Amino acid sequence: MTTAASTACESDVPMAVLGIDLGTSGCKTVLVNRDGAIIASASASYPLSTPKPLWSEQDPEHWWEGLVASVREVIGKWPTEAIEGIGIGGQMHGATLLDAEGKVVRPAILWNDGRCQAECNLLHKKFPGMIKETGNRALVGFTAPKLLWVQRHEPEVWKRVRSVMLPKDYLRWRLTGDKVAEMSDGAGMLLMDVGKRRWSAKMLKLCKIDESYLGRLIEGSEIAGKVSAAAAEVLGIRAGTPVVGGAGDQAAGAIGAGCVKPGMCTIAIGTSGVVFTTTKGYSPDPDGRLHSFCHALPKRWHQMGVMLSAAGSLQWFRDTCAPGVDFGELCAEAGAAPIGSEGLLFLPYLTGERTPLCDALARGAFIGLTRLHQRTHLTRAVLEGISFGLAESLRLIRATGTRVTEATVTGGGTRSDAWMQILSDVADIRVVLREGADAGPALGGARLALIGCCGVPIDQACRPGAAVKTFVPNRKAVAIYATLAKKFRSIYPLLRPYFHGL
Ligand code: XUL
Repeated sequence: MTTAASTACESDVPMAVLGIDLGTSGCKTVLVNRDGAIIASASASYPLSTPKPLWSEQDPEHWWEGLVASVREVIGKWPTEAIEGIGIGGQMHGATLLDAEGKVVRPAILWNDGRCQAECNLLHKKFPGMIKETGNRALVGFTAPKLLWVQRHEPEVWKRVRSVMLPKDYLRWRLTGDKVAEMSDGAGMLLMDVGKRRWSAKMLKLCKIDESYLGRLIEGSEIAGKVSAAAAEVLGIRAGTPVVGGAGDQAAGAIGAGCVKPGMCTIAIGTSGVVFTTTKGYSPDPDGRLHSFCHALPKRWHQMGVMLSAAGSLQWFRDTCAPGVDFGELCAEAGAAPIGSEGLLFLPYLTGERTPLCDALARGAFIGLTRLHQRTHLTRAVLEGISFGLAESLRLIRATGTRVTEATVTGGGTRSDAWMQILSDVADIRVVLREGADAGPALGGARLALIGCCGVPIDQACRPGAAVKTFVPNRKAVAIYATLAKKFRSIYPLLRPYFHGL
């Protein structure tokens, strides 16, 4: 395990909370003062194992070691009696299975594991009303089909299971000893009646899960338990420190970026791309193309579209067609190419697609190449194709009646002004870059602790950072892209039989 730490300031802020992000490649901990400022941060990385094609697993002990290392690193710089609370955000959907003694019975099966398509199909066949109840289609990333897979393929392992936990709930359990699940992450298990914010009796029956396996379901800002004496000793913090429910990483990231009011939207452009909108009520897409989950704060929900290769498409293009060229230079030259890239379209489905296609076999394509096209056109087509993909999620979100006019955009893609203007024009949305919006799920966890453990009001704790740059849609470009979006949308259904035959 490797650790890295940084400190912004070490004095004159007595009271603080810890925010923890249990990521897929490592665990990050931030120390945040009562004003919401990050005082110190540390991270620790751990391995991912892919023992078979489509499999993706981790040893939960590595998560705990990552938490201990990063917390100790941060705490080392702060008086422990001044830590008022802890909140954890983390990778969603992973199945962490424990026996009656609390021992992990097999490696955790992660969100990006693809082994259980047959179990997804089975769930849809057995429960046609599943999308209405759970807000989602059964996807291989989700927890319930993973549990069915273990039941069908490892019955001896399943016989020993007495607790099913999500990754960050497992870490909270290691801290407090309380078996507690939390709404925003719980919704991604496909075991909840998401509209009613409770476990779904139908889904539990269908998946043969006893409710006692899952634990008490609470809001992200509610106190789940207190740090036990044993955990306190390992971590070097005060026994009895309260720990809140926390959130799945996407909801935690949205809270970190201040996206907590209905209609507020964030677009995170990393390897994947996530369009996240807070909604007042539960309003699932009838076809389940969007994810509809609880938000981590009471009486709020969110809709989310997930694109699998966002900046990942640009990375592939750069590495393959322009190796060694700086991303900034590449995107700037694409900004000078004409809107629509002279008739060239790019499908960004290099690793299949979740929203809106739900098709693991979808593939990428350049359509309309001519001898006129140069690298600038190809790069622009890639940026436009990724933006069309993100705009598809927004289109579905808007179709459910949610009004969205502005998005806080985070992630590596925000470094290119040209790309941000393309995104604004393609999605017809004001794109805003904000101070601190990239602090992500760890800050979201800390903010939930400020609300739950220190009584800081939600609006104060979750204030969006100041706008640093704003990109406004250009009406002429919006009209051209609206026509091109129809063409973009029409290509996948035509190519689908080919993709599926590959
Ligand atoms: C959300 C999702 C990812 C994972 C890993 O549905 O699959 O956000 O939580 O980051």
